[in-house]
Parts: sequence; structure tokens; C-alpha cells
Amino acid sequence: MSHETPSSTATAAHTDVPANGSAAGNGNGDAFENLSHENRKFAPSAEFAANAVVTAADYAEADADRPAFWARQARELLTWSKDFTETLDWSNPPFAKWFVGGEVNAAYNALDRHVENGLGDRVAIYFEGEPGDTRTYTYAQLTDEVKKAANAFESLGVVKGDRVAVYLPMIPEAVITLLACARIGAIHSVVFGGFSADALRSRVDDAEAKLVVTADGTYRRGKPSALKTAVDEALSQAGHTVQNVVVVKRNGQDVDWHEGRDHWWADTVDAASPDHAAVGHDSEHPLFILYTSGTTGKPKGILHTTGGYLTQTAYTHKAVFDLHPETDVYWCTADVGWVTGHSYVAYAPLINGATQVMYEGTPDSPHQGRWWEIVEKYKVSILYTAPTAIRTFMKWGKEIPAKFDLSSIRVLGSVGEPINPEAWMWYRDVIGANAGKNGEKKENPAPIVDTWWQTETGAQMIAPLPGVTATKPGSAQVPLPGIAVDVVDELGESVPNGHGGFLVIREPWPAMLRGIWGDPERFKETYWSRFETMYFAGDGAKKDDDGDVWLLGRVDDVMNISGHRLSTAEIESALVSHPAVAEAAVVGAADETTGQAVVAFVILREDATDSGDEIVQELRNHVGKEIGPIAKPKTILVVPELPKTRSGKIMRRLLKDVAEGREVGDATTLADNTVMSQIAQSLRK
Ligand code: PRX
Repeated sequence: MSHETPSSTATAAHTDVPANGSAAGNGNGDAFENLSHENRKFAPSAEFAANAVVTAADYAEADADRPAFWARQARELLTWSKDFTETLDWSNPPFAKWFVGGEVNAAYNALDRHVENGLGDRVAIYFEGEPGDTRTYTYAQLTDEVKKAANAFESLGVVKGDRVAVYLPMIPEAVITLLACARIGAIHSVVFGGFSADALRSRVDDAEAKLVVTADGTYRRGKPSALKTAVDEALSQAGHTVQNVVVVKRNGQDVDWHEGRDHWWADTVDAASPDHAAVGHDSEHPLFILYTSGTTGKPKGILHTTGGYLTQTAYTHKAVFDLHPETDVYWCTADVGWVTGHSYVAYAPLINGATQVMYEGTPDSPHQGRWWEIVEKYKVSILYTAPTAIRTFMKWGKEIPAKFDLSSIRVLGSVGEPINPEAWMWYRDVIGANAGKNGEKKENPAPIVDTWWQTETGAQMIAPLPGVTATKPGSAQVPLPGIAVDVVDELGESVPNGHGGFLVIREPWPAMLRGIWGDPERFKETYWSRFETMYFAGDGAKKDDDGDVWLLGRVDDVMNISGHRLSTAEIESALVSHPAVAEAAVVGAADETTGQAVVAFVILREDATDSGDEIVQELRNHVGKEIGPIAKPKTILVVPELPKTRSGKIMRRLLKDVAEGREVGDATTLADNTVMSQIAQSLRK
């Protein structure tokens, strides 16, 4: 796979990826189709290439000596309190150690050193609240806030190595909390605010968190919505390890108060001293845990450590977005509850001294042009978002962004799910080429960088470099310098160009997960057993005739709903925990806007009294309560039977055919071959 992208026409080829890894099954059908005729390519303009911060020389350097390349990045991008003595220790795979012996403080690197270097007055965060309130933090101000929070958390008994659960909306306190934890060596575990009390409790318990940081609530579509109630509910049953809860006052709604346990942010953090000395932590000191869905019902606590994670997030942020920190205004729309909000909101932009926008709310509050209004207002030059958002904007119509001046935009990023070529072209034409609200078009639209990575990889792994690569609609294209990605067949053999298979990573990378919290066996089993010496990503992929990589979606039972990762097993177990449900099977069905949508097939218990719309509504709410609103099935179908093999395994592939309105595929291995017609019949009713 070369980063040079000679022009040629890609051809579709056979794929040996299992059925649900094919594009037809991942909600991105046209990406696969277009693979057969996608020959559009957009080379960087001469001007962009000439000013790019990273050139093709990085590929050559990394190819020549991968560890040396990363060692240089680590030393250039970070200020180490103690230099490392060994770049990579891979003597005990799959347990890697990067930058061995080095000591580094993430918060010092994100904040103090910029102030020491005379950048204290540079804006770190422009915050835009959903109701329209705004706050600006310079690097000097943000440094003070983080020092205060570090002092406050320490005064509540938090020490290095303790876990802190964070359940916050997209407000500056989220970034402040993460960096304060990192500063004192506490391990943060962010739980997305859209997860339920039950989901929060199971994550608090698994990590044995000592402190929870939350807010009274936030704003959603113009209305206040609660957060602290979920924390109260999660902690209502005894047996947890939480000693204190710090509460940010965000929307001012009434909250229950637990004297002795609960503390207002204003009384603890705001009142704390702004003097706090950062000490270096070991390069391999845990930085955070972030839970993500796997193929079983129990979410995995993905563990990341300090030196390698900071190095690769900072390098990729600079290289992939062509960051010019003195002039760029960067906006990543991801919530801090997901890995993108960790790597590319809380850490990399600040490590790199960038100015960023942070927005609390939804794209349609109070109107469907809100994002574009924000871009215009802050002159955003780098925008990083998910295909599901782009497809939603497409649905709303190009007239909306056309009303705003988006001429400041010079790089557009995509992440989280495959971006179909239509959405890619719309992003380019409607957003990237907007040269002002009078409808003028740019001669050279902003390059689009489609970035493939995962919670587990910690940082971007496959993406074009905007000043180097000729970009191709729908393809993430090439592994980044220093990253060894491949597509292999069932046996682990590299597939030739034009063929598909499984995406793997052949060599350790700095930001790689270091394990699953408390479960080293599961770590080996999940990622390192399918192919012995390679990391198995769980994604299907193809190489086209240029050698460019196309991501085709998951090959396991993980779904991708609006770029959010959910497991079929998790939702199934939520459904069967309802007294009316005997059995449940969940599939991710192709959806035009959200990529995939959750479709559940349930068999009700014989004694269930209700089988109509009411039970469907009740089950949706039940899943919402068990996991969170994001997991609510879009469709629930009550069926008499589920298709199973003789060994009792549910054949989700057939259910997916039904959910996507296709003719049902090969059903010969079913124990009872009348099941599919029974299902079809029940759905016709
Ligand atoms: O299937 C891939 C998809 O998202 C999965 C990782 O999800 P998560 O850990 O939640 O991280 C999302 C943000 C990094 C991957 O296994 N995915 C992510 N980015 C892309 C993608 N699929 C296609 N193209 C992408 N650019």
C-alpha cells in the first residue's frame, strides 16, 4: 500500500469477508458498489501541498525505521520530564510498552508548557452552549482551572491510580476534569451522558471508581435534561466504591442532594488553589479506561496509557488535519463520552496548542443551521465529524449551509463509520467548496480526510494526508506513517489488490490499547487469537486496485449506529431481562441516515398479555432504561420463532435479510426450515 495514489480504476472483486461484513450488510451498500467504478481522485492543490506541515518524507522515514520515527515524534511533540531509554518493548506480546523509562505529564503538556512558552493568551476553547451562552478559555485560564480541579480532587482523597468516573455533558468542565485526573495520575473513565443509570453503575463497579464527576443536567433540543438523577439512581444500591460526587451546575434544575457525598463544583473546584505542580508519570502509567461494546453482553474497559497515546494522538492530529496552531480554529463535534472526544478534543488539540470550538448541543437547536452558524462565527478552519451527521445535513438540504459563510474551512475530517461516496461528495461540494454566503464556490475545495480507527487503537490509523494524498471518495485509503495495516484472508495471508478480507494491524503502534481493565485473557482472546501475531480489528476491508483500503463495516456482532458502537448481545440481554420476553435477536440493519439501525426480533412469553404496539413501546423504553436512549431499537418485530442452526445458534444473517427487506439468503442449515416463512407470515399480519 503506497501513499502515492496513481490514477486507475478500481474493480470490485470477490470477498471472503463473512456476510455481515459485506457492504450490503453494513448500511453502506453504495461504498461497495462504487468500488467497482470509483475513479475520482482529488489531488491537493499546489498551494495546500506547499504549506502542508507533513510531507511524504514521513512515510519514507517511518518505513525505514518505524520505532525511530515514533521516538522522534515522541521527543518533538511532547516535553518529557524524564527521557525514555527504550522506544518499544515488545518482548511479551501482546503487551506492549512504549517509550520505556520515560516520564511525562499529560496536563503539563496540554497546558502549562504552552503558558511557559508565552502562549498563555492564545484561546484554547471557545465554548458554545446549546442555549447560546458562550465562554472563552485561554491557555492560561484553562491551566488555572485544571490546577484547581487537580487540587480539589486531591482534597477529596483521590490519589494516583484511583479511578474517577465522569458523567458530564459537552461542557468545558469535561475537558478540565479529564486533564485534572491526568495531572494527578488518576485514571478517568468517562461514561457517555446518553447511557442509563444501570450502564453507569456497571461501569463504576467494574472500574471501582472512587469519585464521580457529573452535572445537574444539560440542554437537549432547547430543553433542560437531567444527568445527576442517573448518578443518584446508579449509586442508590449499596456495594459501590464511590466516596464523593462532584456536581457542575449547568442548567440549574433541582437535584436531590446527598450530604457528605455530593459537592458542588463551585464549592470545591472554584474554591481551590490555582497552584499545583505537575509531576511526570511513567510513560506506561494508565491514563484512562473507556468502555466499549464487544461481541458479548459485557462492555470492555479499554485501557490506554500515557506516553504512546499522547504521541500518536498529537502526531495524527497535526499530520491528518494539517494543523497550523497559530492560525487554525479546529472543531471536532464528537462528545467527550466517545474515544474521538478523548483523543481529538481533550488531548491532541491541547497538546498541539490549537484553538478549538466545543459545542454542547444538537445540530438542530434552535435551527438546522446551528453548526454552520458556529463555523461562520468562529471561522472554523478544520471540521471533524461523522458521516451520520453529514447524511442528516444532506436530508435537510444544501440551502441551509449555503446561507452561511463557510469560507474559513480548509480541512474536513470524517470518522466513526464508512462514508459513502455520495456523502463524501456532498461534504466536499456543499461544505468544503462554500466560499461565502452568496453562493460562490472555491476553486480548490477543502480536502476530506476519512479517518479509520477505534477506541482500541486510541488514535487514527488509516487516513490520507491532506497535503500529500490524492483523496478518493469513500475510502480511508492509506495507513498513516508508522502504522502497519493490512487486509488478510481467513488464513492470515495478505490479499492482493482488488480483494477483500479482514483488517489487521501487523506491528504494535504507540496508542494501542494496553489491555482490557481487569481481564488480560479477554484482551488476548478478543484481539490476538484470530491471527496469532496480528491485531484483529473486527472490520472487513478491501484493497482496491491502487492498494487503497476501503472499510466495509464490522465482521462481528458489533453494530455501528450513527458512529456509536453497540453490541447485539448487549441489547438482546436487555430485551430478555423484560418479563414479557422469552427470546430476542438483534441485528443492525442498513439505514440511510444512521448507517445502521437496531432491529430486534422478539418472541414473547406465552403468558405475556400484550403483543401489540404497547409492548413494542414498552420494550423500547426498557432497553433505553437498561442501556440508554441510543440503544433503543428503531424497530421491534414480534415473531413466533427465531432462525437457529441445529446447534442452537441464531442465524442473524437471515434476520438481517428480513430487516433490510431482501430476499432471505441460504437457510439450509436451519434446524427448522419453516421458521423463515413463519416469520414472514407474522410480519405480513
Ligand atoms: O467499524 C469501524 C468503525 O467504527 C469502529 C470503531 O468504533 P469506536 O471504537 O466506537 O470508534 C469510533 C471512532 C474512532 C471500527 O471498528 N469506523 C471508525 N472509523 C471508520 C469506521 N468505519 C469506516 N470508516 C471509518 N473512517
